[in-house]
Formats: sequence, C-alpha cells, structure tokens
Amino acid sequence: DRRDDATVAIDDLVLVSNRQPYRHEYDDGKVTVDTPVGGLASAIDPVMQRTDGTWIAWGDGDADFDVVDGDDQVQVPPSDPAYTLERIGLTDYEVRGYYEGYANQALWPLCHTATGRVSFETDHWEQYRDVNAQFADVVSGHVDSDTTVWFQDYHFVLAPRMVRAAAPDAFQMQFFHIPWPAPDVFRLCPQSEAILDGLLGNDLLVFHTPRYCANFLQCVDQHCDGATVDWDTDSVVSEGRTTQLAAIPLGVDAPTIRDTVAADDSVAWAQFRARHDVGEETVAIGVDRLDYTKGIPRRLDALERLFETRPDLRGEFTYIQKGAPSREGIPAYQRLRETVEDRIRALNDRFGTDEWSPVVYTTRTLDRDVLYSLYRHSDMAIVSPLRDGMNLVAKEYVAAQVDSDGVLLLSPFTGAYEQLGEAAVAFDPYDTDRAAEAIERAIEMDDAERWRRMRRLRRAVHETDLAWWLDEAAATADDVRESRTH
Ligand code: G6P
Repeated sequence: DRRDDATVAIDDLVLVSNRQPYRHEYDDGKVTVDTPVGGLASAIDPVMQRTDGTWIAWGDGDADFDVVDGDDQVQVPPSDPAYTLERIGLTDYEVRGYYEGYANQALWPLCHTATGRVSFETDHWEQYRDVNAQFADVVSGHVDSDTTVWFQDYHFVLAPRMVRAAAPDAFQMQFFHIPWPAPDVFRLCPQSEAILDGLLGNDLLVFHTPRYCANFLQCVDQHCDGATVDWDTDSVVSEGRTTQLAAIPLGVDAPTIRDTVAADDSVAWAQFRARHDVGEETVAIGVDRLDYTKGIPRRLDALERLFETRPDLRGEFTYIQKGAPSREGIPAYQRLRETVEDRIRALNDRFGTDEWSPVVYTTRTLDRDVLYSLYRHSDMAIVSPLRDGMNLVAKEYVAAQVDSDGVLLLSPFTGAYEQLGEAAVAFDPYDTDRAAEAIERAIEMDDAERWRRMRRLRRAVHETDLAWWLDEAAATADDVRESRTH
C-alpha cells in the first residue's frame, strides 16, 4: 500500500477548507458521526491521517449537524484519532453571503467561465471577506514560523494575505480545485485586484493544470499594478515576496478503489440492476453533483439524438444517472435539478417501453463499494462537463476498471482530459451530433481498442494517484521553502 510507504509528510500542518471531513450529530447525549461522501474532504482526509496536524473547517451546514458549545475541537477519525478538527460556526446570514453568495454565485461561475450566471453583490462580498477574516484569525492562533498553512479552494482567496500580515514567517500554500479563467473573463469581477492580492499572500499556489497557471499569471500581469510576473519561473513578486505557481493534478486513491473492486462479488451490481429493471443490455453511467457545470442536460440531448437516429438501440442500451443534490439553497441549482428530472421523465416517456427505460435515475446515496461496483460493470462512463477543474469521477471510473473493458467518454473541457488526453473518447457537450456519435462509437468499439485505451488510462491514473499528488505537493513545498532560506 503506497499510502503507508509514502515518505513525505508535511510537519506542523494547518489545513483549511470549507467542508469538514466528519460531521458529528448530537441527539439526546448520543453522538453519531457522518462522513460526507465524495469531493474534496474525502480526498484529503487520508492525507491528514498521515500527519498529526489541525484541520480548520466550517462546522455546520445542515441544521441536523450543529456544532454544540465547547465541542468545536475534536480528534478524528473517531475510530482511530489521528488529527484535530477545529470547526468554525457560521450564522445563516454568513452562510448566505459567504458560501451561497460570493463563493458559489460569483467565484464558482466566474472560474468556470459561466459568465451568464455570475452575480456580484456587495453584501455577499462583505460576508465573504468577514468569514475569510474569521478563518484567518483562527489560523493565525495556530501558527509559528515552522508551520505550513495549506488552504483549499476558492472559499479562501482573501485569507492568505490576512494570515501573512499576522504571521509573516509561516509557509503558506493553496490548492485551487477549480479552473482559473482567462483574463478576459476574470476582468468581469469588480473585486479582481483584491482577489489576486489575497492569493499572492501564499508562498506556493497550485492548480490542476498548466493552463490554469498560465491564466492566473496573465490575470496578475493585466490586473495587478504592484506585482511582477516572471514567465521563466512561473512566479510572481509582490510586496517584496515571491509566490511560486505549480500545476499538480489531483488524483484518486486508485489502489484502494482497485482492491475494493477486486474483492467485489458483484452482488451489489446484481441488486442495483434488479431494483432498477436493468437487464443484459449495454450500460453507460454518469455520476455527478447536480451542478450546471457538469453538462447533464446536454448529455441527455445526446442520448435523445442517439435514440432518434438509432432506434435499433432502444432496449439495447441504458444510461444510469446518479445525481447528488448540491447547493440547494441557490436558485440556479434548484432549477438545474428540475430541468434534469423533467428531461429524464420526457426521455423515458418518449422512448421507454413496459420492459425498458432508456434512463435510470437515482439520487440515493450509495456506499463507496456499491458505487465502485457500478463503475466496474458499466460498459462506459459519460463525463460531460461544460468546464471542470479536474473531475475525479473520470479517474474513479478508470481505477475501478480492473477488467479494462470499459470506455471513458470525457469532455475536452475538463482538467482530466487535459491530463489523460486521447486515451479517453472525446465527448463534446457543445455539439449534440458529435456527442451522440461518440456514444455510438463506444458501443461499437472492439475489445482490442477498449483494452488498449483503458490500459493507458489506468497507467496514468495509477501513476498520478492521490498518494502521488500529496508527495508532489509536499516536495514542491519543500523546494520552495528551501529556495527561500538560501
Ligand atoms: C467542488 C469544490 C469543492 C466542494 C465540492 C462540493 O468539488 O471544488 O470545494 O467541496 O465541489 O461542493 P459543496 O459546495 O457541497 O462543498
């Protein structure tokens, strides 16, 4: 197991993210712990378990999971405590402004180049800034000159500069899990300078791909008067300090997925099929948070086109859509969910028969082993974002393909496609005819080509898995730290 053998761990680590890895529910003196599935928190938890650091996160998001007084610091994981989790409680007003407002209705669409969805509200910005200041205060209380502070994602673009003011000697780094947009998009943001300045409070700023790094450097070049870009070294000097940029694509825990799948007896798959009336036909799977960036309606357009042009596939091909409800306080997300569910109903009404539905849809939470079993047995996965920083579903599907007989259909507008390239079959969400043809091609692909492509994908996903990512991030941090002291 590479995770146990990995040599690099970051000492004295303070990690900061919006989501917490464990939620504690308090009910009549009884405590139950819930692990949020998927996303950033579950990816980083194994990383933290290798340190004895502190993880600082927003402590409640769900009325059922309140932080109770005096219990904002706990040792986790509950079964085998390895590190401290410190939660910061936020008021409903703060959540609306910081999380639902500026983070998810300004920065999220802006960074995904969904310019029509962007809305900047002064009040949201102020809450966002105040919450960043609250986090920066708590972080500053944990920091001395040996500490590494590691911010995650777009929820904390201002905090690095704030912590820098309080703790000039701490080493600060940030990983951005979403894309960074081109300067022509970023200039829509009224707070562009403050955001760039906040991020330049870091010693090291990491994105998934070289493209996002280049976009960021161009934004600094065009929008930051006081900063100088060094294009040879991918770094920026501002306020007398250097920020190093790096591209390190996030990976999945591929060995664990492979081993889980290898031990699978296919019972979960058989049960899933029985519950949803899926027979022996060819099966495609899509697993997404119900987010407008994921391109789900356009995927359904492609399926509709496929069943129109290839009536012989009716009854012979089924698409499984697993949707995870997400950010439901935001109107755009409520509308997206309704659109997806209406479109699926219409497709099933139009093409379905008594024995067969073209689309099987579920929002049930699935255990990881069940999900991996679905990945293993699906003949193809369709990953169709309009834009996506990386997309870990694509990598999980590949890691679960122990028989190497599945096909990955992948949007070129994902970090995953930039990294894994053409071993995947390109699925263009903006071109319905070509997208439908891509599915057709995957259905008809011969075994040799499936195997050849999947072997290449598997090699890449295993070589750049989660353990690799942590080692790269830690080694890059070491290099940058070293270069500063000499
Ligand atoms: C993306 C973001 C993560 C976030 C996840 C789930 O992957 O990069 O930071 O945690 O979406 O979204 P949520 O708003 O529920 O945390």
